[in-house]
This record gives sequence, structure tokens and C-alpha cells, in this order.
Amino acid sequence: MTETAPAVPTPDFYHYPWTVPSAVRVDGRFVQLDWADGLRLRAFDLWLAENTMGQAIDPATRESVLDPADLPDDLAVATAQLTERGAVVVTWTDGDGPAVAPALFHPGWLRHVAEGAHRPAAGLPEPIPWLATDLGEPPTRDGAAIASDDELLEAWLDDLARYGLARLTGAGTDPDLLLGVGARIGAIRDTNFGPIWDVRASVEPNSTANTTVRLCPHTDLPTRETPPGFQILHCLVNTAAGGWSTMTDGLALVEHLAAEHPEHHEALTTLRWVFFNRGPAVDHRWSGPLVDGGDDRPLTIRAFHPVRGFPDCDEEDQPRAYDALRRFARLAADPRFQLRYPFAPGDVVAFDNRRVLHGRDGYDTDGDGGGRRHLRGIYLDHDEVLSRLRQASRRRTPPAT
Ligand code: OGA
Ligand code: ZN
Repeated sequence: MTETAPAVPTPDFYHYPWTVPSAVRVDGRFVQLDWADGLRLRAFDLWLAENTMGQAIDPATRESVLDPADLPDDLAVATAQLTERGAVVVTWTDGDGPAVAPALFHPGWLRHVAEGAHRPAAGLPEPIPWLATDLGEPPTRDGAAIASDDELLEAWLDDLARYGLARLTGAGTDPDLLLGVGARIGAIRDTNFGPIWDVRASVEPNSTANTTVRLCPHTDLPTRETPPGFQILHCLVNTAAGGWSTMTDGLALVEHLAAEHPEHHEALTTLRWVFFNRGPAVDHRWSGPLVDGGDDRPLTIRAFHPVRGFPDCDEEDQPRAYDALRRFARLAADPRFQLRYPFAPGDVVAFDNRRVLHGRDGYDTDGDGGGRRHLRGIYLDHDEVLSRLRQASRRRTPPAT
């Protein structure tokens, strides 16, 4: 049965199709809803009570104002049925605590829970692990309109969520471009390097990045409990000889290690290292394995060797910690896994700083007539990019009315 949705507000700001269940019944402490296509939701009584609009949920914020301490001890669902239009109406038996009035639930809102559409990964692109030999070059779009075009921004972020790497070309060389682009995505993540930072050879470098040496495959700021989720680099000037970029998909690398080198995979995911930032004015430290997270937590590769200070494991584990580290570093630079490409002025390259290992060849600013190389960069947490992508998918869902 599909009909025009009556005005049943939901505990959020999304619009849901009016999908009426074919059967609703009370089963112990659960309300069981069945849809004609076989989908079922079993909704617990206290969870339903926490989601009653106008009682637990404040209609202005669509957030619960109910303190769980005030959930009545003997609250129980008395009846659950469909209204004539197909909303789900639940009545409650009196408990000792505050009375809960009959509550109306939007059937589409209940169904989205049955579908798992409330889960963090729902509606986001599925990550695609890649080899350098598959991609050939970073997924690339024309970036001329990136300062104002929201559709381009969202398509680029979609590539980024999928591949952990997405490039724009022809985006111009406005030095503040990334501040504007970042602000349109979400909050830029500030660090001791500032909200936007420069990568160029400096006479007083604050990091190995600000020299001309090669940077082997790495992830930035593994010294933090949560390293920045995404990094965006914008090339303003590049007349230097060398300095090609490298990118390696850590997701593909970790899958390969698990399948082909399980003993190294085990060491990389369990044996810890202390990372610390040796900057004169800062003292950032964290201890974690090189391959952190995975399963139901985001993968976090901790690999910037200039700030990897000490093994943080038992003496007898240190030889295998180094064996696994060596294997990891060699594979990360293996042409099968590692993309190599030049950076051109106007290029903007975004990558998942916890999934993809980036790097660069050494370069020469004195040869070839004194070339120069200047990049600017920003960080954003995963949350900001993923929230922007979810908003985009919410906008694409037509209202239910
Ligand atoms: C960095 C970095 C890459 C480059 O600044 O951390 O990796 O191409 N830079 O210079
Ligand atoms: Zn880096």
C-alpha cells in the first residue's frame, strides 16, 4: 500500500517514502513490523519510547530530551497497530514514571532502520581497493569550477571516498583556494602547522617535508591519537626537476599482506611503535601499530618514519616488528602498488591520509635554472567529508509529500 504521506514528523530531518507495513504486532517487549517484501523490524519498547515525537524528541532539534534515568521501570507497549493511512500507532501501559501518551511513528522512518539506512556507512560509496597497475593515474576531473561548483565538489569527494585518492586539474593557483574549498566541505582541521600550510624547501625546515629530500610512502601525523582523515595538496608552482608524487593504496596493501604474508600482517597490526614529533615548540606522542583499526573501525596506517621514535613492544618481538616494517615499506614502494605522477601547477590532489600512503621523489631546486616547487595543504577529518557526502545524498532523496 502506497499513499500520500500524512504529516507524521520523524525524529530527524530526513524525508522517507510512505512504506506501510503489511503486519504489525506486539511480541513481548518488541513491536514486530513486517513489510510485504519480507523485511522485518523488531523495535524494542524503550527504544520506541525514546523516539516518540513531541515527548522524548524535541521537534525543534529532533533530538531526545529524555534522560534514560527517567525511563519508567515498568513501561510496556500495550498495543501497536496501523492507522487508516498506514502510520504506526503505539499505546503504552501505565508505569510508575511519567505517563507516555500514545505515539505515532512514520512507517518509512521505521523501515529505514530495518534497511540499515541509519548506519554510518549507509549511502556512502563503498571503498574500492586499487593497485597502481589498475588505476594508472589518480581518478581525475577538470577542476576549473571547483571554487563554486557544488556538483563538482561532491563528485570529487565521491571519488575520494571510493578510491581514497581524487585529483582535480586546472584549478588555478590562487594560494587561498583550499581555504574556500575546505570550508565548503566542513571544518578544516587545524594543527601546529596551521590551518593551511606550505610545502617548500626552507632554510629552516620544521619538517622533513620542507626539504628537498625524497619522502618515502607515508601518512601524515601518526603522532596523533586520531591522525587527520583527509589531506588536500594544491600545487602553486613547480619548475623543479624531480619531485614526482607517489600514492599507494594501504587498503590494497593490507589485504595483500593478510593473504600473502600473514605473519607480517599479524606483526603490523599488533606490535606498537611510539611516534613523536620532535618539533622545538611541540611534544605530540602516540603509541600504536603501523596498521591500526580495520574491521569495524576505519583503517589508520601510521607510517611517517621521521616521527616513528621507538618500538613499543617486548624485546623478543622487535626482530619481527622490523621484518614486518621492512616488508611493508618495500611493498608500499613496489610499482605494482605505487602510482607515480608529476605535480603540475593548478593540480589539487585529495587523499585519505589514514588509508593511502603518499610520498614524493627528491627534487632539485638549483639545477635547471633554479626551479621552484611550492604546494599548500589542508587537513579535514573523515567526519567532515562523510557528513558532506551524506548531506548530498539526503538532498537527492525527494521529499515524501
Ligand atoms: C608532506 C608531503 C608531498 C610533496 O608535506 O607531508 O608529503 O609532494 N608532501 O611534497
Ligand atoms: Zn606527507
